[in-house]
Amino acid sequence: MIVLGIESTAHTFGVGIVKDGKILANVRENYTTEQGGIIPTDAAKFHQKNKYEIYFKALDKSGIKEKDIDAIAFSQGPGLAPCLLVGMRFAKELAGKLKKSLVPVNHCIAHLEVGSITGARDPLMLYVSGANTQIIAYSSGKYRIFGETLDVGVGNFIDNFARYAGIGFPGGPEIQKLAERGANYIELPYKVKGMDIALSGILTNLKQKLESSPRDTQGGHENLQAGDSAEPKYSLSDLAYSMQETVFAMLVETVERALAHVEKKELLLGGGVACNSRLQEMCRIMCKERGAKLFVPSSDLLQDNGAMIAYLGETMFNSGIKYSYKNLEKVDIKPRQRTDEVEVSWK
Ligand code: ATP
Ligand code: FE2
Repeated sequence: MIVLGIESTAHTFGVGIVKDGKILANVRENYTTEQGGIIPTDAAKFHQKNKYEIYFKALDKSGIKEKDIDAIAFSQGPGLAPCLLVGMRFAKELAGKLKKSLVPVNHCIAHLEVGSITGARDPLMLYVSGANTQIIAYSSGKYRIFGETLDVGVGNFIDNFARYAGIGFPGGPEIQKLAERGANYIELPYKVKGMDIALSGILTNLKQKLESSPRDTQGGHENLQAGDSAEPKYSLSDLAYSMQETVFAMLVETVERALAHVEKKELLLGGGVACNSRLQEMCRIMCKERGAKLFVPSSDLLQDNGAMIAYLGETMFNSGIKYSYKNLEKVDIKPRQRTDEVEVSWK
């Protein structure tokens, strides 16, 4: 059984190929910008331009031929509509050409299910990406959201902060490097409500702190001295460090509460922000203290990728969830699909 998976919910266009639960190829390209955030129509154009190249690269890597593919899976939602459309149309084009079935996959659940490759069996997942921040676990027939952000996703929050500080998109990796150089903890608001968190107030606070700390002549915020101004000045590395310590502590607190609530003993990380080594470290400490096991997939599986779509696509196909290439018009994108909308009949 060979399934090809297409990912295109946001800035990543990815194609993965899975054979009987084993990943044969996982190729992707990311839309990035020097300045400013993601513009959905530009990202969609990027996907449109790169899709064939990524597809043929994945075929090459896997060593299989087009005709060996048994089904085409694609990310149906949630995500940015213009980006999702490129992925779906490409999936339909391939399904029609190869006369194979189409399998629409929920992106968030794919992040979770691919975790079984790391050995996780019944985990609670902390899913932290650009648009999404959710604590998800399987419970009676569905993946349920036990906690989430009440406003923006943690990746978008970090990218927004980075953009304000003059760093390009995505900002997460650069902010992590800066945070590693920070030494002074600066007090920030801490917003946890049960198993939910809120980030927009912290963003406003960080922006105010950046404004009161004008850039030096090199264009950075490093090594700012408290000059004549009565306003406090903060170095960008201290702000990045304090942001990570505060926001990751909020995430870990809610995850710990959720683990106790759902009585699970496994924590799985998912989403691009989970590549952050400080977040991983804090989760590891918490899990150790609670006697829980932490599972961290490799970063090419944490970030958006086509292999996770192929992986869940294969499971769904095997349980009979598929559309014939003769009925492709019955399938559409679901930009606002919620994790708990999906009937998990394959489990
Ligand atoms: P989704 O559609 O699931 O919301 P996404 O397009 O945001 O996905 P991901 O690849 O899951 O994609 O995550 C991207 C996010 O991860 C960006 O916001 C990026 O800044 C953040 N990120 C990547 N690496 C790091 C890191 N080391 N530390 C913090 N954040 C990171
Ligand atoms: Fe994602």
